Amino acid sequence: MAEISPSILSADYLKIFEIIRGLEGKANSIHIDVMDNIFVPNDTFDRFNPEFISKLRESKITKNVHLMVQDHLKWCEEFAKAGADEIAFHFETGKTAEGIKLLKDHGVHAGVAIKPATPPEAIENFLDELDFVVVMSVEPGFAGQSFMPGALPKLRWLKHNFAEPFGGKVWIDGGVRKDNARQCAEAGADVLVAASAIFNSNADFLGNLKELQAEIS
Ligand code: DX5
Ligand code: ZN
Repeated sequence: MAEISPSILSADYLKIFEIIRGLEGKANSIHIDVMDNIFVPNDTFDRFNPEFISKLRESKITKNVHLMVQDHLKWCEEFAKAGADEIAFHFETGKTAEGIKLLKDHGVHAGVAIKPATPPEAIENFLDELDFVVVMSVEPGFAGQSFMPGALPKLRWLKHNFAEPFGGKVWIDGGVRKDNARQCAEAGADVLVAASAIFNSNADFLGNLKELQAEIS
């Protein structure tokens, strides 16, 4: 069954540890968006840095780190050492084989993310090595954007060519809401990332999470 991974990009940072405690047992993972203002026009290093991850060491929730950074080899290593469980870097930044090897050497689940313009066939040679693939359904950089339906055929392709033959997990990230969550799961997404649908509309983030989970159950 598919699951929801709350992206804490849209959560109130002043209450972030309380929010993460609230999510424990309700979601398997949290998604942490790391942006360097080079690969994407936004910077989250003031909040989501290796030190932040290391403060979550005691938490049982799976820490999924989405690196939207140019120098992914450096940050794969830093976030792995800090205690991230799963790390995805962007295929478009190159050095894919090196990045996957580095993550595996650190015992971290290895993922690659692809931007809306990147076809899944581009990562075909790496599928047997990867633990998960993140299909971006918005241009990376910001929460609150609209879902790009061009992601759906990519999910179908990855289900057929990655999840079924290799047992990898397919993620969808960007614009996921109540009105498209089921479609994503049916197309082959195992994990659906959602930030604004959970944290923006009202203070009841656990209620919002539950509603999204109900859509795909
Ligand atoms: C976008 C990030 C997403 C973002 C999703 O660059 O990678 O993870 O947090 O936000 P929503 O769910 O609001 O589109
Ligand atoms: Zn993300």
